[in-house]
Amino acid sequence: MNIVLLGAPGAGKGTQAAKIVAEYDVAHISTGDILRAAVKAQTPLGLEAKSFMDAGELVPDSVVIELVKERLKEKDTEKGFILDGFPRTATQAVALATELSALGRDIDIAIAVAVDSEVIVERLASRRLCRNCGYIGTASDASCPVCSGEMYQRDDDRAQTVRNRLDVYEKATAPLVEYYRGCDLLAEVDGDRPVEEVYADIKSMLDTLN
Ligand code: AP5
Repeated sequence: MNIVLLGAPGAGKGTQAAKIVAEYDVAHISTGDILRAAVKAQTPLGLEAKSFMDAGELVPDSVVIELVKERLKEKDTEKGFILDGFPRTATQAVALATELSALGRDIDIAIAVAVDSEVIVERLASRRLCRNCGYIGTASDASCPVCSGEMYQRDDDRAQTVRNRLDVYEKATAPLVEYYRGCDLLAEVDGDRPVEEVYADIKSMLDTLN
C-alpha cells in the first residue's frame, strides 16, 4: 500500500502517519524529519536546507526530489510506504509519478487532511516533540508520555514562521489536492476532530484498499 499524506503544516500528518505505520506494514517517509536530521548532523544537505526551513520556505525541488528518489530505493519501501510532507509542489508530484513508474510502483491513495488555518496556528504554537523518540505532543506534556524524554519546540513553529509556512502551503502545495483528484486518487478527511476520529476515517479508507 503506497500512500501520500497531504495537508497544511500542523494539519496532523505526522500524528496520523505514526498511527498508520503502527498498524499497517509500511515505511514512513517524512521529508521534514529527514531534513531536520540532516540539519542536526550538519551534513551538506542539512547546511543547504537550514536557511529555507528556518524561514518557513520550501527547500529547493531538486534537493528534495533527489532525497526521496534515494529513499524509495531502500528495501523497506517495497512493502509499501507513506509519504508525509512530499510532494509539496507540482514539480515534486510529477517527479514522484515518474520515479514510481520507473520502479514499477503506483500511488494507491492520496489522503488530504483538512484543518482551518486559525486552528493550525494554535496547534503549532502549542506543539512539542520528544527529543528522544520523536513523539508528537503539546505544551501540556511536561515530559514525553512514551519514554519520559525531554520535550522541545521546533524552531519553525514560532508565530511569524508559521504564517509564512501557511502562505507557502496555499500557493505551492494546496493545488496538489486538485492534482490528485484529477488522478482519481484523492480521499479527503476533516482533520479538525479528535485524533482517534480522524484516524478511524483514514483506517476505513485504507481498509477498502486491502
Ligand atoms: P514538515 O516537517 O513536513 O512540516 P509541515 O508539513 O509543515 O508539517 P508539520 O510537521 O508542521 O505538521 P503535521 O501536519 O505533521 O502536524 P503534527 O502531526 O505534527 O516540513 C518542515 C520544513 O521542511 C518545511 O517548512 C520545508 O522547509 C521543509 N520541507 C519538508 N518537506 C519538503 C518538501 N517536500 N519540499 C520542500 N521543502 C520541504 O500535529 C501538529 C500539532 O497538532 C501537534 O502538537 C499534534 O499533537 C496536534 N494535533 C495533531 N492532530 C490533532 C487533532 N486531530 N486534534 C488536535 N490536535 C492535533
